[in-house]
Amino acid sequence: MIKKRILVTCALPYSNGPIHLGHMLEQIQADIWVRYKRMCGNDVYFICADDSHGTAIMIKSNKINISPKIMINKVKIKHKLDFSRFNITHNYYDITDSDSNKELVEKIYLNLRFNGFIKSKKIFQLYDEKKNIFLPDRFVKGTCPICKSKNQYGDNCEICGSTYNAINLIKSKSILSNSKPVIKKTNHIFFNLPYFKILLKKWIKSIKFHKSVYNKINNWLKLDLKKWDISRDKPYFGFKIPNFEEKYFYVWLDAPICYISTIKKLCSKRLNFSFKDFFKYNSKLKTYHFIGKDIIYFHALFWPAILESIKFKKPDNIFVHGYLTINNYKMSKSKGTFITANDWLKFLDSDSLRYYYASKLSDNINDININMYDFMKKINNDIVNKIVNLASRSSKFINNDFNDTLSEKLEDKKLYNYFIKKSYIISKLFNSRKFSHVIKKIINLTNIANNYIDNKTPWKLSKIKDKKLLHEIVSMGLNLFRILATFLKPIVPELIIKIEKFLNISLTWNSIFYPLLNHKIKKFKKLYNRININQINSIINLYKCKCL
Ligand code: MSP
Ligand code: ZN
Repeated sequence: MIKKRILVTCALPYSNGPIHLGHMLEQIQADIWVRYKRMCGNDVYFICADDSHGTAIMIKSNKINISPKIMINKVKIKHKLDFSRFNITHNYYDITDSDSNKELVEKIYLNLRFNGFIKSKKIFQLYDEKKNIFLPDRFVKGTCPICKSKNQYGDNCEICGSTYNAINLIKSKSILSNSKPVIKKTNHIFFNLPYFKILLKKWIKSIKFHKSVYNKINNWLKLDLKKWDISRDKPYFGFKIPNFEEKYFYVWLDAPICYISTIKKLCSKRLNFSFKDFFKYNSKLKTYHFIGKDIIYFHALFWPAILESIKFKKPDNIFVHGYLTINNYKMSKSKGTFITANDWLKFLDSDSLRYYYASKLSDNINDININMYDFMKKINNDIVNKIVNLASRSSKFINNDFNDTLSEKLEDKKLYNYFIKKSYIISKLFNSRKFSHVIKKIINLTNIANNYIDNKTPWKLSKIKDKKLLHEIVSMGLNLFRILATFLKPIVPELIIKIEKFLNISLTWNSIFYPLLNHKIKKFKKLYNRININQINSIINLYKCKCL
């Protein structure tokens, strides 16, 4: 296999709240893929950062009465800790509010201006005179101008689905002060997105998008694209636009640019090549973004258009996942279905969530549902009763009767080769992010291995004198277990560390072609604790949620 250099990103979580199970879905999906790619010998640079600018973050910091700078830096430490406790292997975790990102954003902005992709224009906006702030769409509510439904946000109506300009809302109200906003004129800066329409149409055909993602983008491209407002009025927490009144860059301009500034930092600190190797126009190196379905527009239209206009390479693919739901409810604080990563780890381990997500994830944008009872059943059935059980029942004999040493010969070479053959299809499934199929295949094979042991009845053989056959059978069991553990390595890293210690070997994709013969293992120790109902109830009680 040819070794490749790959850049992988996850969307940058906002600095105004904790990491929750929705963020974890994306990070775990990406991390499994990254670990698999690394196992195959590729150099994968996996980066992420906190998205620390914008009105929501400014308001949050006002509310808790600390400066936004202090708040975002504290939050970043917590986010990083949460990710590391789920064994997410970022090579670098940055923050959008950094000098290096600022420098790059300004450079790119000047470049866009120089090349004529930027124009300023006067627009009308709602203004809260009590709070002295221009109101972002999500901070205004009112009656939908189309269907007259009450209590709708400034950008679109959740009842009839129409989108409109916030100034057209009927009886609008600022959610910050409850007062009626006034309409004010203000000068804004626009990026010429429509100019790139034909190019984007071509580009999306050249990318192997999932069909549903392609259709979504293609539908947008059938309509007129609007010029993109990349500026915001003060007060705002973000980067000031150079030489342009008291205005700031919109958070969605500087956030994706942070993908570049982060890899740039990583390259300059630790690597002996330049970030430009990824972003020069015809680079052969690959860049992949993992994102949720809510931010496709930003990544598949704005972002490639910006990259094109500065003659940087566009992404090689954008892997989109669906939304996490809890008992089919959207995650929501008020409904009590908002589980943070930190709370999860108070009662449960990280591998169990990684495994459960893998068992549900594929390459599509379907929503993924967690049900805590189904979760418990799945983990106990698959990991404890099937996978770990295979090791425990085989190793008992090796440890007790054979001085911890595996036999010199395989009892059933054909069966071993059958497992090896499956590695090709499992590789393909990992590569195309069809992790639920990977899990199905692994569990099928685990059933086959356990049936093999059942049929060979080693417990009977242990009573007769000639132990050679027994030795080969239980060694076979552990050899099959070792292949299965190798397949599981990208998914459950904590379990794998224990398995590697026990098998006294490092699990690599290529080494499964050679069986473990005449090999000394360690004494079997409990590899995984069965999940009990108290743990599940603890999570449910914590959130006092009727629907969990
Ligand atoms: N800051 C932007 C991304 C900027 S990327 C240049 C953002 N942040 S976010 O914190 O709201 O979301 C980060 C990622 O987590 C997004 O890809 C988003 O889709 C994903 N998820 C947030 N909530 C989610 C669920 N409930 N379920 C699944 N993914 C979710 O968007
Ligand atoms: Zn409506």
